[in-house]
Amino acid sequence: MKVHDPRAIAILNATAVTAAYIILFLFSSCILHPESLGGFAIYCMLLLTGGLLFAGTYFFFRFTVDKFIYSKIRLIYKSIYSIKAQKMDRHRFTSNRNILENVEQEVAHWGDEKQKEIERLKQLEEYRKDFIGNISHELKTPLFNVQGYVSTLLEGGLDDPSINKEYLRRTEVSVERLIRIVEDLGEITQLESGQMYLNKVRFDIAVVSREVVEMLEMKAGEKNIQVLINQPDKPLWVHADREKVRQVLTNIIDNSIRYGPEQGGRTKISFFDMDENILVEVTDNGIGIDQDDLPRVFERFYRTSRGRETSSKGKGLGLAIVKHIIEAHQQTINVRSTVGVGTTFGFTLRKA
Ligand SMILES: Nc1ncnc2c1ncn2[C@@H]1O[C@H](COP(=O)(O)OP(=O)(O)OP(=O)(O)O)[C@@H](O)[C@H]1O
Ligand SMILES: [Mg+2]
Repeated sequence: MKVHDPRAIAILNATAVTAAYIILFLFSSCILHPESLGGFAIYCMLLLTGGLLFAGTYFFFRFTVDKFIYSKIRLIYKSIYSIKAQKMDRHRFTSNRNILENVEQEVAHWGDEKQKEIERLKQLEEYRKDFIGNISHELKTPLFNVQGYVSTLLEGGLDDPSINKEYLRRTEVSVERLIRIVEDLGEITQLESGQMYLNKVRFDIAVVSREVVEMLEMKAGEKNIQVLINQPDKPLWVHADREKVRQVLTNIIDNSIRYGPEQGGRTKISFFDMDENILVEVTDNGIGIDQDDLPRVFERFYRTSRGRETSSKGKGLGLAIVKHIIEAHQQTINVRSTVGVGTTFGFTLRKA
C-alpha cells in the first residue's frame, strides 16, 4: 500500500488516533481506577470504543482526503479534457480506491498523447517549410526568365526584329510552365489534404491505356520512342476513377518518353491478373534511376540528377500526384530500375 493512497492515509491516521486513545485510556484508568484494570469488562469496552473510533476516524479521513484530492484534481482533469465535470466523473473519482494512481495514469497518458502531437506538428512544420522552400525554388527560374525577357524587350528589344518574337515566345513558354506548376501544386495540395473525391466506375483499363498512348503518340514520335501495349485478349474491367487513372498512366508514360534513350526507345505496357487486382506495368529502356534515388522519386519536387541532365522540363510533381491517386484508391505503386537498362513502374487496380 502506497502512502499517497488515500486509503493508506486514512488507515495511518485512524491507527494513530486509536493508538493515542488506547494509551490515554489505559493511562487515565491506571491513575483514576487502577483496580478496574484487572477486570474483563474494561478491556471489552476498550476494544469496542477503540474499534468504533478506528472506524469513525478511518471514514472521516477517507472522506476528507478524497474530497480534498477530488477538489484539487478536478481542475486538472477538467483542463485536460476540456469538459465540464460530470456527475459520472465525480462518482468515478470519489468512489475509486486508487484515485491518485488513476489520475497519474491519465495524466501520463495525456502527456504521451501531447508529446506525439507535438512531434507530429514539428514534422508538419518541417514539411511546410520544405514545401514552401521547394515552391519558391521551382517558381524562381521561370519568373526570373520572364523578368529577363520582358526587361530586354522594354529596353529596346521590342524594336529588334531578331529577338522580339523569340523573346515573346520564350516568355510564353515560361508563363506556361508557371501555370503548370501552379496547377500541379493545386492538385497536390488537394490530394494531400485528403479532399480527393473519387468517381469510381467500371471500365476497361486496356482501353484507357490505348487512349493515353494515342494521346502521347506525337510526343513519343518526336523522340523516336515506340510505345507498345501487350494487348489482352479480353476486357480488363477495373473499379476506379477513370480520369484519375488516365492521369496516372499519362504521367508514367510521359516519363518513359521524357527519360527515354536518344535512339531505339521502347515503352511497353503490360497487364497481369492478380486475383483481386489487375497489375499494370509500364517498362522502358531509358536512362534508369539510381538505387539511392528510387525510394525518393515519389516525393514532390524530387528529380534525379540524371533526370535533370536529360530534361530541363520536369517539375518533379508527376509521380507525387500518381502516388497520391493510387493510394487514394487503397492500391499500391512500386518502381524498379537499373541505370542504363531501364525502369518499370507497376501499380494495381481493383478488379470490377
Ligand atoms: N521512367 C523514368 N526513367 C528515368 N527516370 C525517371 C523516370 N520516371 C521518373 N524519373 C525520375 O524521377 C523524377 C520525378 O519524376 P516526376 O514525374 O515526379 O517529375 P518530372 O518528370 O521531373 O516532372 P513532372 O512534374 O513534369 O512530371 C524525374 O525527374 C526523373 O529524375
Ligand atoms: Mg514526370
